[in-house]
Amino acid sequence: MKIIIDTPEKIAEKAALRYVELLSNKPDAILGLATGSTPVGLYNELVKLNKEGKISFKNVTTFNLDEYVGLEPTHDQSYRYFMNQHLLSHVDVDMEKTNVPSGINLDEAASYDSKISSAGGIDLQLLGIGNNGHIGFNEPGTPFGSETHLVDLTDSTREANARFFASIDDVPTQAVTMGIKTVMNAKSIILIALGKAKAEIIKATLQGEVTPEVPASILQLHPYVEVYLDHEAASLLD
Ligand code: PGA
Repeated sequence: MKIIIDTPEKIAEKAALRYVELLSNKPDAILGLATGSTPVGLYNELVKLNKEGKISFKNVTTFNLDEYVGLEPTHDQSYRYFMNQHLLSHVDVDMEKTNVPSGINLDEAASYDSKISSAGGIDLQLLGIGNNGHIGFNEPGTPFGSETHLVDLTDSTREANARFFASIDDVPTQAVTMGIKTVMNAKSIILIALGKAKAEIIKATLQGEVTPEVPASILQLHPYVEVYLDHEAASLLD
């Protein structure tokens, strides 16, 4: 596991260079994408590099980690909407090759993992991390062997995400998420964490016990993970 500590701006630039490198070697790479506030800086950087002609998404396929149950793709808090707004609508990707789990047709979740495998498997999975250690919406206690599935969101996750909704009552109670196994099947992984609020969970994730109680701790066992932290998120590491 490689740990890179820098300012949020530099992290966005350095992580974006990983994509430049990957896509110049493999223009049809399969990208695992994430939502949340953490990847926004990286996505802005990728949009900029795409406009400058330094990276092309023309041949890539994307698979997002998760989606809220009950939100149509056009809902402004759906993760499909987020992806289009922050990255996909602004780059030269083929929209037909972009995938976000459906929060409406829940039966499709059962075939999400096989769809990923048929596409060739994820080359680079991007992750944020929840304050409770969740990756995707795999909350503490999720079995490490899980594939894409339906989950009940914890109160802490709903509270953390309530800032994007009119009130906590509007935050969906369930989501569809890639499982831990789905994530671990990726050939390489980038985890980004920014801010003081993530310091404790980053310490538990990187230097604590590998346990389903801290879902992201499984990343210690993945052969190719890069962790990008700002100084605040890294502040409790030994
Ligand atoms: P955040 O969310 O990027 O908005 O902090 C991360 C997550 O919950 O996975």
